[in-house]
Amino acid sequence: MTVRTAGLAGLGLSDPMFWTRPLAERDAAFAHLRSLPAPVRFPEIDVPFIKGGDGYWALVRHADVVEASRRPEVFSSEPTTNSIADMPGYLARFFGSMINMDDPRHAKIRRIVSRAFTPRMLARLDDRIDETARGIVDGVLRGEGTGDFVTDVAARLPLKIICDMMGIPEADREMVLERSNVILGIGDPEYGVGSQISPVSVGLALTRLLDAGMELQLLIRRLGRERRRRPGDDLVTALVHGNVDGERLTDQELGSFFILLVVAGNETTRNAISHALKLLTVHEDQRALLLADPAARMPGAIEEVVRYATPVIQFRRTLARDTVLNGHPLREGEKVLLFYNSANRDEAVFADPDRFDITRSPNPHVGFGGPGPHFCLGANLARREIGVMLRELYTRVPSVRSTAPPDRLLSGFINGVKHLPYEV
Ligand code: HEM
Repeated sequence: MTVRTAGLAGLGLSDPMFWTRPLAERDAAFAHLRSLPAPVRFPEIDVPFIKGGDGYWALVRHADVVEASRRPEVFSSEPTTNSIADMPGYLARFFGSMINMDDPRHAKIRRIVSRAFTPRMLARLDDRIDETARGIVDGVLRGEGTGDFVTDVAARLPLKIICDMMGIPEADREMVLERSNVILGIGDPEYGVGSQISPVSVGLALTRLLDAGMELQLLIRRLGRERRRRPGDDLVTALVHGNVDGERLTDQELGSFFILLVVAGNETTRNAISHALKLLTVHEDQRALLLADPAARMPGAIEEVVRYATPVIQFRRTLARDTVLNGHPLREGEKVLLFYNSANRDEAVFADPDRFDITRSPNPHVGFGGPGPHFCLGANLARREIGVMLRELYTRVPSVRSTAPPDRLLSGFINGVKHLPYEV
């Protein structure tokens, strides 16, 4: 089924070119979809080596995204949440982490890993987050760097903190960053396929994706073996030694969890920090508000950046049985995509939703997912990282500004910023 509007002709959301459109056009297309009485079904495109399925329903309203997140027994996260097509088995092996599982398997793994994300454990990271953000701003003030905010500032803090948490050796960290770029950037010409889909471009991209998954798996398995022999003070040690009710992570689960952390934790937070610089540059009034009282206004600013930018555009669910959503029948086996970007602009929930307003309250955005078992495990860590990085930047370099529009990642999954020129 196609929807006849200027922004959504032909394949609509399934057309890679849709995701290259200016953000305002993209937002207008989603506003149109929200105004329709029922969800719209979009086709899947066949990509060489990956057979497209029968299409998917786009869930674009806040209430629908919340309800689908809340009913995991009907809206299943299996076989996958992060690809519209079902992944071939060889890819699922690397990327089959708990985000792609339902309870009870999901709950078992989440119980083991969630110990690293308790407020007490996160408080232990506070000094490290402060110190790292200070060091990054020192570099900016000394005029080091490339003039690209993403590489000079935004990418550095989340990567350092995740690698510190896991105990990744310094020598391997550049590799971790590069491989996670490949995994999330698969649709972008700089890292993967781009909009020119051919057997050669997809074959090459899949090979790169597999290599990236394999290298990250091998790195963490090597580290797991070392920590079993010689425990350290890091998350890998806790994961390979700790057990909950006699349960331990297998090597495969450890590897997939690491890939999930690197991909889910690293790229998302980095993009949120980059979007924040752009938003606070373009919206002078909001920047002035933040600078007038950074301590009081930062929590609101963080939530509004995550709402407005929505770094993760969508995750998928698959119907485990027939159901009715908002009066609309859905059948077992059908796919739905939860469009967080659209839910976060739903005029039924947010007054003046296209306005960037750091004082917005309440702000029930679903940028970290809807309420339910898969709600972002790293939300509090992400909030701390974004808040500390912005505090250091805006208190020590209040003149910092982006100087050109962001160079955006071509992706219908991640609202990514590849490069962002800036000046201080
Ligand atoms: C601004 C930054 C972030 C955004 C926008 C974000 C977004 C999300 C979203 C939308 C989900 C829900 C998935 C679903 O319902 O299927 C999710 C899950 C998850 N996130 Fe985040 N995330 C961020 C930062 C982080 C960080 C820093 C970490 C860890 C270091 C992290 C780890 C995870 C994990 C492990 C899950 C899966 C939870 C589960 O399946 O039980 N995220 N995230």
